[in-house]
Amino acid sequence: MTRIYPLLYRLGFTPWEYAGSHPPAARHITRLIEREEQQRQPPFGRALDLGCGRGHWAIVLAQRGWEVTGVDLVSRAVRAARANAAKVGVPVSIIQGDITALRAAGLEPEFQFIWDFGTIHGLSQAQRRVAGREVSALASADASILILAWTPAHRGPLPRGASQQDLEDAFAGWNVDDVQPFDATGLPRPLRNVGPCMYRLRRNSASPQS
Ligand SMILES: C[S@@+](CC[C@H](N)C(=O)[O-])C[C@H]1O[C@@H](n2cnc3c(N)ncnc32)[C@H](O)[C@@H]1O
Repeated sequence: MTRIYPLLYRLGFTPWEYAGSHPPAARHITRLIEREEQQRQPPFGRALDLGCGRGHWAIVLAQRGWEVTGVDLVSRAVRAARANAAKVGVPVSIIQGDITALRAAGLEPEFQFIWDFGTIHGLSQAQRRVAGREVSALASADASILILAWTPAHRGPLPRGASQQDLEDAFAGWNVDDVQPFDATGLPRPLRNVGPCMYRLRRNSASPQS
């Protein structure tokens, strides 16, 4: 899946970005982010956007008061994310890198919130486990992770999806503490008929930090 993104960005075909401009989806995401903020005062802490693309959600988080780092593999997306953040005048650190090698990309602990809108569910389970270890090494003890994942299925070049079990397997030491069907009302059919869910993960209290 990862290999198709440079082409999609070159073609300007980025349907996942519709979520930001469709009120039901955007409202659902806003509610989920607000929940992360409820126990905190702004600035809320450090947030990590895994596969930040052209930066939409990284910018939203920064505008809300998070100190945001976005990571994406695709140089065209990274350039666009930096330009988009500069355009709206919010400080966001955008790094070109692989989420399976976050520390090698120069990221430092600790992040309080990890956001993934559509990246991890497109990886193989082996890649997810590596990404899970990287995230665990960079996340604070009280961190939370929010992940969008489609129901697992073979869909040709589209993301294969991930189940709760896949995510808990990939993020050793974390538990899913909330699952919500993602409100994809109004989004194009391929984005509605894939059983999208939002998963929230927290560390098991007994687990080691990395
Ligand atoms: C479905 S898009 C979502 C982009 C962004 N989260 C958004 O909502 O606009 C998935 C993103 O993950 C990036 N990506 C895929 N595999 C990656 C990896 N291993 N490391 C970093 N980024 C990756 C792609 O380049 C793409 O920008």
